[in-house]
Amino acid sequence: MRKIRAYPDPVLARRTAAVRRIDEALEKLVVEMFETMYAARGVGLAAPQVGESIRLCVMNPTGKPEGEVILINPVILESSGELNEEEGCLSVPGVRSNVPRAARVRVRAYDRSGREMDLEAEGLEARVVQHELDHLNGRLFFERLNEAARMTLNRQLRVLEEEFHTESSS
Ligand code: CO
Repeated sequence: MRKIRAYPDPVLARRTAAVRRIDEALEKLVVEMFETMYAARGVGLAAPQVGESIRLCVMNPTGKPEGEVILINPVILESSGELNEEEGCLSVPGVRSNVPRAARVRVRAYDRSGREMDLEAEGLEARVVQHELDHLNGRLFFERLNEAARMTLNRQLRVLEEEFHTESSS
């Protein structure tokens, strides 16, 4: 299992690099990311959250074994509609907020065998896809909020900042 990096760890703010080949090391990382995600009761996890600055994320919005999705070098091709629903992030513990997102997205990515695939998602799955893709671009969910909504989270974010600086200096 991997340690989940928490805000404001700089790896979370970095834009990630494309995955260049699918090898044993990547396969192992995928397995570890699923284990880490399930242990933390999350529905999605992006590689930067475990300290790997590459374009890879795993998700399972249904929680069923057949619901596992692995996205390698994902790109959003189309998005439509808008939904403003509650969201949280394993890297921003204890902080939740409504976030406006597209209601439906179509994504192109490579799966773990290197095959190109298109994924059409709506509802929670569409939200998770957009949240995880944001991670690959160094963006956290609260950065999508307007100033007023973000203000309400400032105190909680400051607590996380203090914890991070205490931990990294000890
Ligand atoms: Co997240």
